[in-house]
This record gives sequence, structure tokens and C-alpha cells, in this order.
Amino acid sequence: MSAFDKGPILVTGASGGIGAETVRQLIAAGAEVIASGRNEEVLTRLAEETGCRTLAFDLASEEDVRKALEGLDLWGLVNCGGFGGEIATPMETDISVFDKVMTINARGALLATKYASQSMVRLGKGGAIVNVSSQASLVALKGHISYGSSKAALDNITRVSALELGPHGIRVNSVNPTVVMTPMSAWYWGREDIEGPFLEQMPLGRWATEAEIAAPIVFLLSDGASMISGVTLPIDGGFTAC
Ligand SMILES: NC(=O)c1ccc[n+]([C@@H]2O[C@H](COP(=O)([O-])OP(=O)(O)OC[C@H]3O[C@@H](n4cnc5c(N)ncnc54)[C@H](OP(=O)(O)O)[C@@H]3O)[C@@H](O)[C@H]2O)c1
Repeated sequence: MSAFDKGPILVTGASGGIGAETVRQLIAAGAEVIASGRNEEVLTRLAEETGCRTLAFDLASEEDVRKALEGLDLWGLVNCGGFGGEIATPMETDISVFDKVMTINARGALLATKYASQSMVRLGKGGAIVNVSSQASLVALKGHISYGSSKAALDNITRVSALELGPHGIRVNSVNPTVVMTPMSAWYWGREDIEGPFLEQMPLGRWATEAEIAAPIVFLLSDGASMISGVTLPIDGGFTAC
């Protein structure tokens, strides 16, 4: 039995660019997928296109996450829901934005992990979780004090979850992408003064596509990654290696 026959995979952030492409690629690989986000209209369109199931809930509310996930009998989880926050230095940061970024990117992913792993352990079939982190957790990026901190917290959630859930046959990994030109990033990274200097420092010298992030996520969920757990995998054209 292949990993993708063992039970449904929940993808949060599926109403966004990377999440929707992950749903498409998982369905193409034969998985049963539950696509989640808050925007039900966008999720319904994705369901019509791919045949996935949908489930709308707010990652900021423990009650919402608990109610949504209990009884789902998940085998897999992709924590892709996220919020970009602001571009600000430590001197000028708006701490309410920091709170919101942490609430969605770190706390929300931990809540989904909490309730998903409870059912995975109960079912006893193992499982796999992929957290969509960022290059911003691996190196210091100007203006990214809040966002980078939230993704560094997420990387720690990956490592500790890999440690705690490994004995139950559940693997937990992160992907750490560079910029993909979705609405979350285009307003800042698309600026001429930001894009040029950044790409000059990246060996591959171009932004990633949604498909180039989704494919490693699908791999990390698959049988091909059966001995991989606890990693933070840069998908960044070599940027953080230099
Ligand atoms: N784009 C990039 O350059 C880039 C680079 C590295 C990492 N990432 C990470 O990749 C992930 C996806 O990014 P993206 O570019 O695809 O973003 P996006 O298109 O802006 O999508 C963000 C997703 O997060 C969901 N979301 C936000 N707040 C939520 C909440 N409170 N409850 C439930 N869902 C919520 C949104 O759902 P609704 O709109 O339905 O509320 C949407 O599905 C994020 O974690 C992001 O940090 C992105």
C-alpha cells in the first residue's frame, strides 16, 4: 500500500498559490486531499477543478481547528497557511503584526499538528507532516523580523514534532522556499530595488514557481522520503548556501 493510499492529507493554505498547487500535485499522485483555508469560494473552485474535498476554518482559533480536525482520520498534513505580515526593522516593528504573524504561522501550524497527530497516533498507521517554512528562517533578511521569527519557530516545531512523533511512525519535515510571486510576496519582492540585488546573490538567479515548491512537498509526503524526518529543506536556488 502506497503512502497516498493510507488516508486523507489535509492541506492548509489551499486557497493560496502554493497550497493550491500542492493540492493539484497530490491529487495527480493519487492522494485523497482535503483543501483548507478561510475563503470558501476559492476552495470550491479548487474542488471543482481537482476533485478534492474542502474544509474552511480559521487557524487563529484553537476551537475552530479542533472542531475541524476531530474525526477526520488524517494520514497527512501540509501546514501551508501563512501570513506575510510587514516589512519592518526591529526599531519600527508593529508588535500587533508580530502577534498576528506568530498566531498564524507558528501557533496555527502547531494547533493543526496537535489535532492531526492525535488522530494519526490513535489510528496507528503512521503519517507524514510537511511544514511550509521559508528561507527567512535560515538567514537574516532585511525587514523580516516578524515573519522570519515565526518561521524559525515553525522550524523548531518541525524538529520537536519529529522527535516526539517518530516513535509513532510519523515523519515531520519543513520546506524552506525562496520567493514565489504570489500576492503574499509580489508587492515587496517585485520591487525593482529589492528584486535585482537579491537575485544577483542567488546562484540560480530567479524566483521559484508554485510547482517547484509543491513537488518537494509531495516528495516529503511520499514513500520515497520514508527515512527523512526533522529536516528543513531549502528550496531557494542556492541562496542560503552562499
Ligand atoms: N510566496 C512566497 O514567496 C513564500 C516564500 C516562502 C514561504 N512561503 C510560505 O508558503 C505558504 C503559502 O504562501 P503563499 O504565497 O501561497 O500565500 P498566499 O497565496 O497568500 O496564501 C496564504 C494562505 O494562508 C491562508 N491563511 C491565512 N491566514 C489564515 C487563517 N487565519 N486561517 C486559515 N488560513 C489562513 C489563506 O487562506 P484564506 O485566504 O482563505 O484566508 C491562504 O490560503 C505560507 O506559509 C508562506 O509563509 C511563501
